[in-house]
Amino acid sequence: MNKKTIKFWEKEAEKLEWKKKWTRSFSGTMTKPHWFLGGKINASYLCLDKNDPEKLALIYENELGKTIELTYGELLSQVNYWAAKLTKLNVKKGDVVILYLPLIPEAVAIMLACARIGAIHAVIFAGLGYESIAERIQETGAKLVITTEYTLRRGKQIPLESVVEKAVKTLNNKVKVVSIKRNEKIPKAKNIPPVFVESNHPLFVLYTSGTTKKPKGVVHSTGGYLTQVYSTFERTFAEAAKLGTYWCTADIGWITGHSYLVYGPLMHGSTVLIYEGAPDYPDAGQLWRLIEKHKVSAFYTAPTLIRMVKSLGEKFIKKYDLSSLKILGSVGEVLNEPTRKWYSRVIGHNKCPIIDTWWQTETGGFMIASDKKSNGRKKPMEGISAKISKDGELVIVDPWPGKFIRIWGTTLKAGSIYQTGDAAKIDKNGFVYILGRTDDTISSAGHRISPIELESIVLENDRVMEAAAVGQKDEIKGEKIVLFVVMKKGAKKEGLAEEISLGLRQKFGAIGTPAAVNFVTELPKTRSGKIIRRALKK
Ligand code: PRX
Repeated sequence: MNKKTIKFWEKEAEKLEWKKKWTRSFSGTMTKPHWFLGGKINASYLCLDKNDPEKLALIYENELGKTIELTYGELLSQVNYWAAKLTKLNVKKGDVVILYLPLIPEAVAIMLACARIGAIHAVIFAGLGYESIAERIQETGAKLVITTEYTLRRGKQIPLESVVEKAVKTLNNKVKVVSIKRNEKIPKAKNIPPVFVESNHPLFVLYTSGTTKKPKGVVHSTGGYLTQVYSTFERTFAEAAKLGTYWCTADIGWITGHSYLVYGPLMHGSTVLIYEGAPDYPDAGQLWRLIEKHKVSAFYTAPTLIRMVKSLGEKFIKKYDLSSLKILGSVGEVLNEPTRKWYSRVIGHNKCPIIDTWWQTETGGFMIASDKKSNGRKKPMEGISAKISKDGELVIVDPWPGKFIRIWGTTLKAGSIYQTGDAAKIDKNGFVYILGRTDDTISSAGHRISPIELESIVLENDRVMEAAAVGQKDEIKGEKIVLFVVMKKGAKKEGLAEEISLGLRQKFGAIGTPAAVNFVTELPKTRSGKIIRRALKK
């Protein structure tokens, strides 16, 4: 690896407090990286103990207008309370704890409580269905799932605990389910000393829907991951976040919620807004009402949300004072020019830099990002060596600290270059343009959905012979799911489309609901018998 790159990341790592300094900055390979060998570190210590206990850490608000505020001192006390509770439940260093929780202060506290005792959190987006939960329990061998009764969405209570119960019933594994009460008065807890772990000790495992048959459990380290997240947040949002409240609209069920809602901003001592509910409920002014009320200075969201609010018109936005905003960010999909311009003019009043950030669950943190002057155009950040391969794929040449260390339960083929799976081009000034996935993954409302996963569920229906799922352009979601289904001979069509949709909604979750179900007599296939989804898409 390039000496300058190593030096750069050493300098960044030195900004964190290590209980014991590393003896070697990098060893291993791209496939099996080990950054900061022998270094001892704890994520909850960096996020909590290091910060001013009087400063606000979290502001929670839900769609009913209820708010909860926690200072860094209060959050630390909550984390100690949950850490003690986990220990009582026999959770030890290296154990996996599954969290199936909405975006409530307790969810953040329990993530940090896991980190405090060296346990590995596995957050499952609280919109995924029971099969997804069961699969993840089985694969990670988790002994404990933490959930709560419900989450709020459009004025309704969406059950969570019962979904976990259903998942557990399908398994033979012995797994404990703890359902926590929301807003329970938590007694002031005594300090639980943080367990300082070796740099490559896993901080968490997070599942992404890959292109292969099963979702991948991406495992991130502690020391390398935190270095990347700290460094990239510092170079983008940290300064503006200090001038008010920082708001990242992602859920903790996704990597953005891990890196830039919890670890990045908390290590920097930011005040973080968390919102539970739909962005357009009780009305289309909700986002802007929250920005005005909490004086949000840094706002980080996804193009799908920007397209949605854009489609609702400006009258809901103009009612609110957005002058607290200093910087705007985007992630998850291509932020195309019309959307970027609208975002900049209507939300940023042409005064806020737009920071587009390209990265992946696998990269841990930002890789390619805009600077404050580049109008949303972006370059590889310092420390990241990106190139375009002969086939037009974006590849990363040198290891970087935030790269995942392994995939749960599998051994990866060794490789020296990281293939992103994205198509891209680089112009003569070094700006990178992302052209989408090189494979057929469906990208809906900012989520990556594997067609194989959807198809596997559809195929469980005994009237179905074959199925293929493809993404089709959608103004708001980016892509909507379109299904092609071949029925079994002699099967009745009546009610089948509805049954398929319901099955997907229940088993995969609402984001897996198809926009259309087309019945066809056959699917296009390669000679070896593989379905050609690209042809269906056309
Ligand atoms: O295709 C790229 C797209 O999202 C993929 C990563 O998805 P995921 O692991 O779910 O992480 C999303 C949040 C980091 C990438 O391979 N993507 C992400 N950011 C951008 C993007 N596409 C274009 N522009 C971006 N800024």
